[in-house]
Parts: sequence; structure tokens; C-alpha cells
Amino acid sequence: MAMTAIWAHRGASGYAPENTLPAFELAIAQGADGVEFDVQLSSDGVPVVIHDETLGRTTSGSGAVGEHTLAQLQSLDASAGRSGFEGVHIPTLQEVLEVVAPTSLTVNVELKNSEVDYPGLEEKVLAAIAAFGIEQRVVLSSFNHYSLRRLRDLHAPSQLAVLSNDPLFKPWKYAAQLGATAIHPPVHTIFGRSYVRKATASGVVVRPWVVNADRTLRRMFRYGVDAVITDIPDVALALRAES
Ligand code: G3P
Ligand code: MG
Repeated sequence: MAMTAIWAHRGASGYAPENTLPAFELAIAQGADGVEFDVQLSSDGVPVVIHDETLGRTTSGSGAVGEHTLAQLQSLDASAGRSGFEGVHIPTLQEVLEVVAPTSLTVNVELKNSEVDYPGLEEKVLAAIAAFGIEQRVVLSSFNHYSLRRLRDLHAPSQLAVLSNDPLFKPWKYAAQLGATAIHPPVHTIFGRSYVRKATASGVVVRPWVVNADRTLRRMFRYGVDAVITDIPDVALALRAES
């Protein structure tokens, strides 16, 4: 059984402000095997890395991400109340790729377009990735499965992954139908080892999120999931080394 990879959720977001350059730099420094982050579009059409569709929780701004220009977004403080990180900004996709492209990490780009439709997001994400030539170690995921279909229709050369919130019935079959090779379910919807075994046997790998508790990390290592998406890659790496 291949070793489970450790992917840093929104960067090493347990220790640094989520979806910021320090969070990605820390994930790399801690030895994570991959990073996950969320992409939306500014009002002037630039892909930016931020989770919520609104600015209030993680930045000094307010209102919708998609109603602010890039310049407005980048003038905000995105330290999300974490001391020592004051002045850190919302990065563009380009800035994040500049940090991760020179590494060997897997790059999970989540298109955050299930609440807000961002026309052209798929094309822009594909172009940014192609510019760095890292298509083969990028995984594209979305809760918006029409967007995954669009990526497939655009002949995205990267792996596609189906994100879900609920316990779906045989999601590996659904994923295969969409042209996806992975499912990214919330960890509490993985009820037993057979889920992982059946998915993997049908050619669809499983990467649960957000796996932070020691017991759950150990259980996922035992089940042999392809990767865990965690806020605390250092803890996950230490537990994996013991398992
Ligand atoms: O991609 C895994 C996970 O990030 C999905 O949920 O809300 O953290 O983007 P969320
Ligand atoms: Mg995400």
C-alpha cells in the first residue's frame, strides 16, 4: 500500500493565516507533500487565493471578493487576527504558484465557484498552471461539478477531483462518470475501510479533508487513503512516521 501523502489545507493554516504566502512557505518548510488552496476572481478578473466569498472573516475588508478589484483586495490585511503576520495580503494565484512551482509538492487548486459563478475562472486557472508547466502535479477540485465538467471539456491536462459535503452513494462511480480520478470527501463521511478499498479498486483515489485529530489521521493512514488534507502537516507527518 502506497504511503498516504500529507497536504496542507489552505497552507499550514493551523499556524499561519490561511491561504497566504506564509502559510504555503510554512507547509513547504514542514515537509508537506502537497498544498491545497481556494481560488476566486477579483472584479477585474484576476485569480486570487481566498476561501470565503466574502472578506469579513479573514481580512480587514468587507463585502464580496468578486466585487473588489485586485488592487482593492491586495490593499487589505489578510492576517486574520494572527499576531506576527500583520500586513500579509491576499495572494494572487500567480504569487502562490511562484512559491510552490519550484518545489516538488502536489498543488491542489480548488475552484471556489459553487456559491458565486466566476465566468472564465476555469480558463484562467488552466492558463496560470500551464505558464508554470506544472500540469502533471496539479489536482483541480471543486464542489461545483459543472465546473469540473467544463475543465474536462477544456481538456484540462491535470487530474480532476470531486469535492463533496455529504455522504454520497458510491461516489467513485459518479467521479468516473465526470472524468475525475479522485474524490475529496469530508473525513466524517468515510465510514469504513471498504469505502477506500472500493474507490481505489475502481481507479478513483480518496483524499479526505480536514483531518486534524490524531486518531482520525491514524485511521486514514490505516485505510490507505491517497492523501489527507490537514491544517497541521507537521503533526500528520510525525504520526505517519510512527505508523
Ligand atoms: O479542498 C478541501 C477543502 O478545502 C474543501 O473545503 O471549505 O475548506 O474549501 P473548504
Ligand atoms: Mg478548500
